[in-house]
Amino acid sequence: MAFILLSRCVAVFVFLLSSQSALPVRKAAALSLYTDKEALLSFKSQVTIDPLNTLSSWNSSSSPCNWTRVSCSQVNQRVIGLDLSGLRLTGSVSPHIGNLSFLRSLHLQENQFAGVIPDQIGSLSRLSVLNMSHNSITGPIPLNLTKCLNLQILDLMQNEISGVIPEELSSLKSLEILNLGKNNLSGLGNLPELQMYNIGYNLIKSSGDEGLNFLTSLVNSSHLNFLAIDGNLLEGPIPESIGNLSSSLRSLYLGGNRIHGRIPASIRHLRSLALLNISYNYVSGEIPPEIGELTNLQELHLAANKMSGRIPNSLGKLQKLNAIDLSANELLTGPLPQEIKGLQNVAAVDFSHNHLTGSIPDTIGSWKSLEKLFMDDNMFSGAIPATLGDVKGLEILDLSSNQISGMIPNNLEKLQALQLLNLSFNDLEGLLPQEGAFRNLSRIHVEGNSKLCVDLTCWNNQHGKKTSTAIYIVIASIAAVAVCSVIAVLLCVVDPELLLSIQDSQPDARFTSPGKQRECLISVLGVGLSRTADSPDQRADMRDSLQKLKTARDTLLRQPLDHKPDLDLEAGIGESSMNSF
Ligand SMILES: *[C@@H]1O[C@H](CO)[C@@H](O)[C@H](O)[C@H]1NC(C)=O
Ligand SMILES: *[C@@H]1O[C@H](CO)[C@@H](O)[C@H](O)[C@H]1NC(C)=O
Ligand SMILES: *[C@@H]1O[C@H](CO)[C@@H](O)[C@H](O)[C@H]1NC(C)=O
Ligand SMILES: *[C@@H]1O[C@H](CO)[C@@H](O)[C@H](O)[C@H]1NC(C)=O
Ligand SMILES: *[C@@H]1O[C@H](CO)[C@@H](O)[C@H](O)[C@H]1NC(C)=O
Ligand SMILES: *[C@@H]1O[C@H](CO)[C@@H](O)[C@H](O)[C@H]1NC(C)=O
Ligand SMILES: *[C@@H]1O[C@H](CO)[C@@H](O)[C@H](O)[C@H]1NC(C)=O
Ligand SMILES: *[C@@H]1O[C@H](CO)[C@@H](O)[C@H](O)[C@H]1NC(C)=O
Ligand SMILES: *[C@@H]1O[C@H](CO)[C@@H](O)[C@H](O)[C@H]1NC(C)=O
Ligand SMILES: *[C@@H]1O[C@H](CO)[C@@H](O)[C@H](O)[C@H]1NC(C)=O
Ligand SMILES: *[C@@H]1O[C@H](CO)[C@@H](O)[C@H](O)[C@H]1NC(C)=O
Repeated sequence: MAFILLSRCVAVFVFLLSSQSALPVRKAAALSLYTDKEALLSFKSQVTIDPLNTLSSWNSSSSPCNWTRVSCSQVNQRVIGLDLSGLRLTGSVSPHIGNLSFLRSLHLQENQFAGVIPDQIGSLSRLSVLNMSHNSITGPIPLNLTKCLNLQILDLMQNEISGVIPEELSSLKSLEILNLGKNNLSGLGNLPELQMYNIGYNLIKSSGDEGLNFLTSLVNSSHLNFLAIDGNLLEGPIPESIGNLSSSLRSLYLGGNRIHGRIPASIRHLRSLALLNISYNYVSGEIPPEIGELTNLQELHLAANKMSGRIPNSLGKLQKLNAIDLSANELLTGPLPQEIKGLQNVAAVDFSHNHLTGSIPDTIGSWKSLEKLFMDDNMFSGAIPATLGDVKGLEILDLSSNQISGMIPNNLEKLQALQLLNLSFNDLEGLLPQEGAFRNLSRIHVEGNSKLCVDLTCWNNQHGKKTSTAIYIVIASIAAVAVCSVIAVLLCVVDPELLLSIQDSQPDARFTSPGKQRECLISVLGVGLSRTADSPDQRADMRDSLQKLKTARDTLLRQPLDHKPDLDLEAGIGESSMNSF
């Protein structure tokens, strides 16, 4: 087994089947309460510092059953329990403790006991709980401990115990909890009854291409359902034999190590797997499509690795999937497969910090349980699907730093559970929805969208022209027609001067003048219509118009009436409208 312990850390929780209850009948022999008293006094003698003076009641003039933290059985007045936890005692554990032959529980946790675990502890055949965690115990786990056949709890966490984890521990058929966390232990034995193996978050180091091959030693642990080796310094590829682990394995934590290479396709055999966490490693290659065969999977965490290629279609088969985290793989590319809509129970999705492209599928709106969706820092394009507004429980939607365009669908206003909407640094346009979820802008982040308006003022400034112009055209047209009609009538029909001049030059003018009157009307209307031109610089200003009206009038007055008025009307306004007169 190619792994070495660097520091004071190994945590192993072993749940062994507690089926058998082998009871080695020990001959109590000559041992009596007197023996217990001697053993305890001997134990006390090895305690060098007792800052709370707890052991002061332990003296030869009274019965040990009256001593602090000592408990006796009612039946035969023998010491069955000793609880000295958290008394800040310093010293070593006396070998005479082995004479407390009726002892069932020994709690020495949270003190400063140093030295080794005495071999004699193996004499405590009735012992079922041994907690010596949080001390400074050194040396190996004594092999004799495996004689304590009634042991159910063995907690030696956080000491400086070294050496290998003895294979013989597997003979402790009653053992339910084996916690060897935070020690200097290395290796593990063949533990066929093992259900839970947890050496997570230690400083276990391995190197080379076989650094994870110790996992192969677990292939005979056919009851294994929990395996955690995460948060260590384990290096190497995941061995092909991962697929030979127990088919009842439900949780597999490999994250936060130095695992490289590909995820072996053999992982498909772990059919009971509900949680797979390989995040924070150096795993490369594509996400194996075989992961789609793990149909019991509820959590898939492959974040912060070096995986490449597309997200396989087969992931859509994971109907029980609740959380998926593929973030920060950088090399993941291509569009989300259509099949992804199959993730009907997904609540948390993190695809952020990759090179994913294409549009966000509308079908995401069918993920009814969705609460958190992170797709930020990719190359997604196209519009935000309006269907996202139908995901009632959506709390976080982060689409920032992509190339998403178009308007923000008003349907998102319906997102009542929304806590964070980050659409920053995209290419969005239009006006930010103003109602519902968008009333509280502290939850909305949209910076870096140059074409997007957050409020109506901006909207009116930027886009006001078009809307108001349309209204303006209508009003101006009506006004122009009205004004022109009036002016035209005044100018061309009832202006006394004009009438006079017409009458002067042509006595029959009243009857021959309709042509002139029409021309006059056309000129005047032309001036009026020029007010409706779209932009200010095309538009004649009011003074200009008045000037032109005056000119038209003057021209008409000056010119001989059979002469077409030569009016300088603006280009484009009138050709067609004039012709249509
Ligand atoms: C346990 O490991 C730590 C860290 O490597 C080291 O400092 C300490 O000396 C070791 N203790 C023993 C008893 O080996
Ligand atoms: C414990 O028992 C052993 C032998 O069974 C004996 O030699 C030793 O003196 C005893 N210790 C005490 C403190 O009585
Ligand atoms: C022994 O301990 C008892 C309490 O358990 C105490 O009352 C008594 O004074 C102590 N005797 C001596 C000699 O310390
Ligand atoms: C325990 O102490 C009480 C008095 O404090 C005494 O009556 C009783 O006999 C003692 N028990 C033993 C087993 O010494
Ligand atoms: C510890 O185990 C060894 C070998 O199994 C044995 O010889 C020895 O007597 C045991 N010691 C105790 C205190 O049980
Ligand atoms: C052992 O003691 C520690 C410290 O008090 C405690 O946290 C832990 O739960 C105990 N172990 C067991 C298995 O009860
Ligand atoms: C698993 O069991 C088989 C058959 O008993 C044995 O040959 C093999 O060595 C065991 N493997 C491990 C890693 O213990
Ligand atoms: C894993 O199981 C396959 C058959 O299912 C077998 O061929 C292979 O040798 C096994 N590998 C290990 C390491 O046990
Ligand atoms: C997955 O593993 C990483 C690294 O060990 C850890 O930070 C993260 O909390 C784990 N996530 C889950 C849900 O287990
Ligand atoms: C929103 O996204 C931008 C760009 O990804 C980021 O810089 C910013 O911190 C995010 N804001 C919040 C509140 O998450
Ligand atoms: C707006 O949202 C923030 C952040 O979620 C929250 O602290 C604040 O109470 C909300 N304000 C209102 C008026 O709902």
